[in-house]
Amino acid sequence: MDRFLIHGGTPLEGAILVSGSKNSALPAIAACLLTGETVTLDRVPQVRDIRTMLDLIRHTGAEVSQEEGRVTIQAREIAHPEAPYDLVKTMRASSLVLGPLVARCGVARVSLPGGCAIGARPINLHVSALEHLGAELRQEHGYIEARAPGGLRGAEIHFDRITVTGTEDVLMAAVLANGETVIDNAAREPEVVDLARLLVAMGASIDGAGSSTIRVRGAAKLSGTRGAAHSIIADRIETGTFLIAGALTRGDLLITDCDPGHLRALIAKLHQAGAEVTEPSPDSLRVRAPRKLSSVDITTEEHPGFATELQAQFMALMTAAEGISFITETIFENRFMHAQELARMGANIRIEGRQALVAGPTPLSGAQVIASDLRASASLVLAGLAAHGETVIDRVYHIDRGYEKIEAKLAGAGARIRRLS
Ligand code: EPU
Repeated sequence: MDRFLIHGGTPLEGAILVSGSKNSALPAIAACLLTGETVTLDRVPQVRDIRTMLDLIRHTGAEVSQEEGRVTIQAREIAHPEAPYDLVKTMRASSLVLGPLVARCGVARVSLPGGCAIGARPINLHVSALEHLGAELRQEHGYIEARAPGGLRGAEIHFDRITVTGTEDVLMAAVLANGETVIDNAAREPEVVDLARLLVAMGASIDGAGSSTIRVRGAAKLSGTRGAAHSIIADRIETGTFLIAGALTRGDLLITDCDPGHLRALIAKLHQAGAEVTEPSPDSLRVRAPRKLSSVDITTEEHPGFATELQAQFMALMTAAEGISFITETIFENRFMHAQELARMGANIRIEGRQALVAGPTPLSGAQVIASDLRASASLVLAGLAAHGETVIDRVYHIDRGYEKIEAKLAGAGARIRRLS
């Protein structure tokens, strides 16, 4: 198992380039199952979750080719409309193929994901939305089996709770349903908008993506991307991770090829904490921070609120801020696993239910720590960069799920970080 060795204490300086978004590329790849024609995607990050999703697409019988960030998929025939447990257990986002498979094939068999480190993560909302579209679903032997032999029909769907992949799953099903679908209380994440943009390029008719009501007029067939390629948006969570890294190490970091508009909530909190964040161009951000940072409270929310995927990294930053910051996690029930590891590095954190109280500033010192999930690992990397002495992070396969070449990118900005294989 790979580990990271970090010698902390060096400010990050220079420029760092953002990759395409993992959480946008995952549904985009699933959307390729909606057509027999070729779909070409650009700027697909080369991370483990994407490899898992491509394996899943190959498993259905589709042809996949990949060259650097360009992925070309043709699902001419779908021989196996199923997502087996072995693939789903390593990546919950596999449930994104449920909607496209039942819409295209009239049948789908997708393993139930089970819990994960950050929470229970059920897919009941995906299931009930697909039932509204006329699919019959039943659960057996750990799998969801969906059937819609006569095809799906448009319907009014109201999500009781905002779900990102649930919105994406049902959006992909609705584009091939007969008639109009209205999705109410839809997720407004930029990844949903990016998926809608791809589907429209494939011939779908969608209005309102990015708002909480999405209207879809179903079509009998979708096309491929027809000579053009769909370019995946910048990864806003990677961008945010680098912004926080720049502030925490008191560096001067230019982050390029990103979309500042997707990070307004984080940028506002960084300003409140005393960091300076500017936009030298429409697709770049520059971060600098004074020695003295102030504590700031955050509450995670659906987009455009403060992203839960940046909560762990922000907690690492708050260990360096003066005062007590209250960090409230409202999206997932168990997303504080990093707190104990940060405490081993010298942080003063108390967890009370869904709230973490971080009292700072506490100087961090390098230690041996264990990564428990994707974003928790990112927070430990940031803490290691800021700590004095040596940090060894175990189980970095978690970080490899979602960050492309993170150690090379950070090393390019002056970090002393090395992978131990
Ligand atoms: N929920 C249900 N039932 C459902 C679906 C969700 O109760 O059927 C609950 C979840 O348990 C959670 C809340 O609703 O408490 C929101 O979950 P959501 O469905 O929005 O999460 P997700 O779609 O499984 C995506 C991202 C996550 C991100 C969340 C929240 C992808 C592939 N994953 O997950 O990304 O944190 O939305 O924004 O897009 C990450 O990248 O680190 C990551 C975990």
